[in-house]
Amino acid sequence: MCETEQKKQVTPRVATGDRAILPEGAKTIPVYIMGKKYEVPETLTIMKAMEFAGFHFLRGAGCRGGICGACPTVYRMAGDYKLHFGLACQTVVAADMYLAQIPFFPANRADYSIDEIGGLPEAIHALYPEIFRCVACNQCTKACPMDVDVLGYISALKQGNIEKAAKLSFDCIQCGLCASRCLGEIPQYHVAQLARRVYGRYILPNAEHLKARTAAIESGYYDKMLDELEKMSKEELEKRYVEREREPDFAEVGSWKPEETRYL
Ligand code: FES
Repeated sequence: MCETEQKKQVTPRVATGDRAILPEGAKTIPVYIMGKKYEVPETLTIMKAMEFAGFHFLRGAGCRGGICGACPTVYRMAGDYKLHFGLACQTVVAADMYLAQIPFFPANRADYSIDEIGGLPEAIHALYPEIFRCVACNQCTKACPMDVDVLGYISALKQGNIEKAAKLSFDCIQCGLCASRCLGEIPQYHVAQLARRVYGRYILPNAEHLKARTAAIESGYYDKMLDELEKMSKEELEKRYVEREREPDFAEVGSWKPEETRYL
């Protein structure tokens, strides 16, 4: 056996790009991915553990930060009948976890133009009549990795309360796990997105400052600055980004202004 082959055999494989990687010799645990057993470092997220095990994500991974909803995962622990739900990029593996990813769930999505449907609850009822098939089993809420009150917003919509539904569903990341559990075959996350769109388009009062900003954009006020940015190299843009003035993390609302105010 040549030296390189020997080295390959003794060096444990580690996933890259994850600060949770253990040093050599770190503890590994058994997990079952799509029914097959793998030994993976115990501190990795499901996503990193799958990569460690040799999976490559072409679908089912996006932001890797718990925002995009691309990595919903269902798992069960050995000896327990209960199903658990989580995001692969956020959930840390545990010994004897049986898991499968559901990167896409084929839920019904209505076709509409937000400018044409109007702002009444009846518009939502017409586009998604299946919300009245809800039997209030609450499996949708139990499956939500973002702790959204899914049953709460579907019930609010049935009662015609679009504002409540929009607010209750604000943290939804569209992963689709709710729909995968629904007895009534309701695509809750698409319904919630429509509720937020209707709320933003027809119910929420228009922000006054937005009118002034839109007028400034349309008058060409920002064109010179945009031209300058477009001509910059990638390195210059990165430098500009890194050196930008940043609002302090704990500034009181409305109390901070950058020194550069030309384009405010
Ligand atoms: S990859 Fe975006 S939420 Fe997990």
